Amino acid sequence: MWIYPTVRIYYSNEKSPVWLRKTFVIIGGRVPAGYKIYFFASPVFRVAPAVYVRGGFLAALKFPIPPRHELVLYYMKIISVLNHKGGVGKTTFTGCVAQALALTGARVLAVDNDSQHNLSSLLNVGVRQPNILDVYRAPAGEAPKAFLSAVVKTELQNLHTVTSCGDLLDGAVGDVYHLKSAIDACGLERYYDFVLIDNAPGLDRLQALAVNASHEIYVPIELKQFAVDGLVEMERTLEARCPRGGRITQIIPNYYRNIRRHNTFLAALNKMFPGRVTATCIPVDSVFDEVVTEGKILFLHRLYSKGAACYIKAVHELFTVDEEGMWDSMLGKRGEHIRDRARERYYRQREGGGEDGQ
Ligand SMILES: Nc1ncnc2c1ncn2[C@@H]1O[C@H](COP(=O)(O)OP(=O)(O)OP(=O)(O)O)[C@@H](O)[C@H]1O
Ligand SMILES: [Mg+2]
Repeated sequence: MWIYPTVRIYYSNEKSPVWLRKTFVIIGGRVPAGYKIYFFASPVFRVAPAVYVRGGFLAALKFPIPPRHELVLYYMKIISVLNHKGGVGKTTFTGCVAQALALTGARVLAVDNDSQHNLSSLLNVGVRQPNILDVYRAPAGEAPKAFLSAVVKTELQNLHTVTSCGDLLDGAVGDVYHLKSAIDACGLERYYDFVLIDNAPGLDRLQALAVNASHEIYVPIELKQFAVDGLVEMERTLEARCPRGGRITQIIPNYYRNIRRHNTFLAALNKMFPGRVTATCIPVDSVFDEVVTEGKILFLHRLYSKGAACYIKAVHELFTVDEEGMWDSMLGKRGEHIRDRARERYYRQREGGGEDGQ
């Protein structure tokens, strides 16, 4: 039996801007990430007899809906991107997946939980005030408000982020459930389908905060002996230190080359973690460095690269998003982007009095 992470149900009343919140833990089938859950309420008895996910039966529930209220159910998945090893591609993975999901219509919040603030740079936002450190420094009662005020927009419409800063150290963290309580209390599921948390290398309090707030952990990994060995230890440490936190559900091989050594490690990894290693491996591609250096978005500026294609495939595999649909959506967004840039150039040129500045 699968105990599903808490699903929030809101009763909305048009006359009152206040949402009355109720929390349920649904026991039943597994919901694919980001899917909306539909309620079939009886107009006579005003009860929701069952919950369906895209036609698949999930659970039978019975509870009353107050008169003149509607029932809206939100589900949001929180994922920590974690590996105690450095430089394995955590930030690249978080940034690319967040952008890909946002470009295909999901509402995404990317949280930078690393003092190197690489994710904030990758998303072209930089360090902002307030940021994640202000959330950690806020007393428990103030933390939800601090979290919401730390959210900033990015260039992509559906992608928001909470930035980090250089002062973010392990010492800033008190209670390891601080982030979980803050996210739980601020009703984030009304605004986002996915929250992706990029973590610093290591397995300390800062990472424990993210793991305790997450439903799942995704681990990008290099195909090297020490990396594969370290993963077993990392899982053991996580179970001991964060017994109530998310678990490693996906391992994503990065820097893959189709050579015998990598294929041997891949086979070993599949044997050690059956069903948890993605079939899609992210290849070595200089495009990831290029887009970061140039401050560009992989799927808008380098859509035809090997790296972009592999990330699209990975997102399709990890989040059960239709691959063809993703390509169509990205191509559309890329076209819009090119058109907007061309228009912008035209108006800039006109304002400047022509190319020669006359
Ligand atoms: N598949 C890949 N092919 C080539 N370069 C890559 C690939 N994935 C990531 N990189 C590059 O490797 C470098 C390290 O990646 P990244 O910053 O994502 O790792 P990280 O695990 O977040 O590092 P840290 O532990 O320091 O936070 C970056 O310059 C990134 O552009
Ligand atoms: Mg990083």
